[in-house]
Amino acid sequence: MASETVLELEGLSAGYGRIEALKGIDLKVGRGQIVTLLGANGAGKTTTLKVISGLVRAQSGKVRFAGDDITQMDAHTIAQAGLVHVPEGRHVLKGLSVRENLELGAYTVKSVAVRKQRLEEVFAQFPILKTRANSDGSLLSGGEQQMLAIGRALMHGPKILLLDEPSMGLAPKLVLETMLIVKRLNEAGTTILLVEQNARLALKLANFGYVLENGVIRLSGPAAELRSNPAIVQAYLGT
Ligand SMILES: Nc1ncnc2c1ncn2[C@@H]1O[C@H](COP(=O)(O)OP(=O)(O)OP(=O)(O)O)[C@@H](O)[C@H]1O
Ligand SMILES: [Mg+2]
Repeated sequence: MASETVLELEGLSAGYGRIEALKGIDLKVGRGQIVTLLGANGAGKTTTLKVISGLVRAQSGKVRFAGDDITQMDAHTIAQAGLVHVPEGRHVLKGLSVRENLELGAYTVKSVAVRKQRLEEVFAQFPILKTRANSDGSLLSGGEQQMLAIGRALMHGPKILLLDEPSMGLAPKLVLETMLIVKRLNEAGTTILLVEQNARLALKLANFGYVLENGVIRLSGPAAELRSNPAIVQAYLGT
């Protein structure tokens, strides 16, 4: 069953000076889906997320979100519209408490009442963050910092979350826990574009997957099909 497209990339190219990181990629994310973007180091996954969220300028092509062309919009406006990027690495701010880190995430939200309500929702979702609300965010464990990074994104009230390697650097048990968090957020109605090193888990979670290779989409398909595709198994899933 095809769901309504909420995010669409069309012929998207971008780079850094003379480095062509993305060479005309097409990608779609349906409302309510989890779509995963896989690829080796340097393939262009982070660049793709950055172009979508307005952190890197597209050289050509289009990004459409909820039917609007957002290719030239700035990152702030895009976040305000409900497209929120959780960057690679946790970016927890040292010297600020967990609560302050979360409140910083809500900079796009004007209403004090809504900010308060979102904070309560994040605390309900991640009770450990409530327990540690007044501790310095940088003193949390790696897994807790990832929850904080995701919690900060949730403060915007996202329609779609772009997650860049949320399980990076975490112990296997926490990798699984992070993926369960992603699943739960999705079940609660958030659409997700997931970049993940652990292709096996990502393809278990996702509805659809894309494989990026040197800035080009090499393969795409329903996650279940990609999981049994010999080329994917060999390149990304091991034995
Ligand atoms: N700020 C930058 N300046 C110059 N080149 C960059 C910059 N960021 C990325 N690149 C280059 O762009 C290409 C794509 O990088 P990108 O970070 O998007 O890859 P990635 O798929 O996210 O890799 P990884 O799995 O290692 O995170 C690479 O060749 C990289 O070296
Ligand atoms: Mg990356």
